[in-house]
Amino acid sequence: MKTQLWNNRFSDQVAVITGGADGLGFAIAGRLIGEGATVWLLDRDEARLKAAANKLGSKAHALAADIVNEAQIQSGFEGIYAGENRIDIVVNCAGIVGPNNRKITETPTDGYEQVLRVNLFGSFLVCKHALVQMQKRNYGRVLLIASIAGKEGNAGMCGYSSAKAGVIGLVKSAGKEFAETGITINALAPAVVRTALVEGMEPAQVKYMTDKIPMKRCGTLEEVASLATWIVSPEASFNTGFTFDLTGGRAVY
Ligand SMILES: NC(=O)c1ccc[n+]([C@@H]2O[C@H](COP(=O)([O-])OP(=O)(O)OC[C@H]3O[C@@H](n4cnc5c(N)ncnc54)[C@H](O)[C@@H]3O)[C@@H](O)[C@H]2O)c1
Repeated sequence: MKTQLWNNRFSDQVAVITGGADGLGFAIAGRLIGEGATVWLLDRDEARLKAAANKLGSKAHALAADIVNEAQIQSGFEGIYAGENRIDIVVNCAGIVGPNNRKITETPTDGYEQVLRVNLFGSFLVCKHALVQMQKRNYGRVLLIASIAGKEGNAGMCGYSSAKAGVIGLVKSAGKEFAETGITINALAPAVVRTALVEGMEPAQVKYMTDKIPMKRCGTLEEVASLATWIVSPEASFNTGFTFDLTGGRAVY
């Protein structure tokens, strides 16, 4: 990480980052630790999870779990709260891309169902069990990673776009439910950031998405971590139910 402006905004705070073994989640976790937080990385990929936690040092812990398994998510959050006496921050970065570069008529129905299951149902479970724990202390910051695909709909990705639109609706609803508490619930909608998820997509689909970015470049992990950590900081106290843009000018709303 190149950012030089880190301080101790998160000293004493405890964060859970799903999908923390790689990509956006790993970058956000690194920045939170750099600013004082204790971080639990939650991921279903056990080997990469262990390596990621080792890389981040003694303030990083690993929890192997699948975000679509409610028993694992519920007991995982309960266990972390019981051990730490707090959960201040939950960022849901676990996600998959599913069928891409395919029209709806060519989209396998099971592929559509799977991307909805991980990206939307998984977001629901993570958000639900994060809130069950956070309401005990009446403080928390929940951040769900959505996507520009959920705001605009990317042709060729009807499952992913539907799921991410659902995440945007989920934070609008839950944000209002908790608006009079100390807990905020927001989403972040990035355009393309080069991670394993993007590397696994059809090149024609990646070109379609990157060509739409007015800045004519991809976002960086540092830019994601910078905005995400502000949204989950105590300073961000008058924002809830909102989906923040991170698209190099693609979405101006
Ligand atoms: N990279 C981008 O350009 C981009 C753009 C917009 C939105 N997003 C979203 O950001 C999030 C993170 O994406 P990324 O690019 O870092 O992907 P990534 O593939 O680099 O990392 C995702 C991580 O999630 C984990 N994971 C997947 N399914 C899981 C499950 N069911 N339970 C637990 N862990 C699971 C994977 O093992 C992996 O470590 C995703 O929701 C993605 O849709 C990414």
